[in-house]
Amino acid sequence: MDRIEIYSAKHFRGEVIPAPDKSISHRAVIFSSLANGRSVIKNFLKAEDPFSTINAFRALGIQIEEKNGEIIIDGRGLNGLKEPEDVINCGNSGTTIRLISGILAGNPFFSVLTGDSSLRTRPMGRIITPLSQMGAEIRARSDNKYPPLAIKGGHLKAIRYEMPVASAQVKSSILLAGLYADGITEVIEPVKSRDHTERMLPSFGAEIDIKNNVISIKSSPELKGNIVEVPGDFSSAAFFLVGALLIENSDLTIKNVGINPTRTGLLHILQEMGADIKIENIRFVSGEPVADLYCTGRKKIKALNITKEQIPSMIDEFPIFCIAATQAEGVTTIRGAEELRVKESDRIKSMASELRKMGVEIEEYPDGLSIKGSSSLKGAVIESYNDHRIAMAMSIAGLIAEGVTTVNGISSVNISFPGFFDIIRRLTH
Ligand code: S3P
Repeated sequence: MDRIEIYSAKHFRGEVIPAPDKSISHRAVIFSSLANGRSVIKNFLKAEDPFSTINAFRALGIQIEEKNGEIIIDGRGLNGLKEPEDVINCGNSGTTIRLISGILAGNPFFSVLTGDSSLRTRPMGRIITPLSQMGAEIRARSDNKYPPLAIKGGHLKAIRYEMPVASAQVKSSILLAGLYADGITEVIEPVKSRDHTERMLPSFGAEIDIKNNVISIKSSPELKGNIVEVPGDFSSAAFFLVGALLIENSDLTIKNVGINPTRTGLLHILQEMGADIKIENIRFVSGEPVADLYCTGRKKIKALNITKEQIPSMIDEFPIFCIAATQAEGVTTIRGAEELRVKESDRIKSMASELRKMGVEIEEYPDGLSIKGSSSLKGAVIESYNDHRIAMAMSIAGLIAEGVTTVNGISSVNISFPGFFDIIRRLTH
């Protein structure tokens, strides 16, 4: 029974610690696997996506263990990976397949990467083009578009690459290949995307330079083992922030949340809409800013327009932002967001069709949506399209809807946030 029934909530109260950050957990495993010596990862996200990265590096010959809740990795150096004996399954994880491709491009052996039915429809040309320019041989299904990817790596040369889309996965893939290339590899972003790679890789010994939207990396003879502590995931905290904002009689404290400015677009947009969110106790954890957030509901919020430049810093928060927009005064328009069509599901289509079922007036554009606000949501049977963020966002919608909302495909939340529904039960109890 892969579904949950949700009823309207009377309050949303208490203290919560969100799941550890997914993007940072992936990177901690990847960089530790390439380092010489032992690394320790604290507060690692024990969820399906980061486990896909762990499994991939085990298949590449790296010893990875869990001890007392921490992940211990004995890296074998940049050239210590071995040819995998079988196809590597990256599950649902775009970060796993794209970042590892950059590494395999620099390794002189053959490997094949694949994933689940969602990952096998996600565009890979965006990494194949730059990695091929650097000298890797990569072939993919459907005229080099989709996984499986077959990679024969080797000697790479540095490139200067202007990325056509703002993507941290593409940027990080090229930077990782740059560790293996002759000379200095430069990546130019159209809009700044999340910068966890640039923050964490130097702490392992890589030489990275950032000038505005140009990131350069020197080829590296060696990375060194490290200790990484993973902060809470703002993208997971976002569901609680919006829940607290929309549910009457709410008073919520969210502790230990990463507030890296490349990730917190939604926080500032909600404040601009009129939300009462306080950011306190700001500190740094493994090079990332972290804080506690306080949020009370239910304030009047007003609609606003989201444009292309704002999308990267809230890219994963679009589904939950749509729920906030249904309650804002006026019409919210989101444009320049065509990237959302190639996430774990087509998130523009998924949100439009599921919110319509709940009675919201929505117009769909190739690159976004417009959502009529001040809508009374009605309970409905909702599909998650096996997309974790759709499942969690629509569950929050269920908490403010009249009647019963059934969300199908909720096991998808295990991709990024096992325990999500236990927390929801506690906060609404
Ligand atoms: C991620 C980057 C983003 C984001 C994804 C995780 C990462 O994707 O949507 O959930 O860890 O680098 P893009 O870089 O493709 O936009």
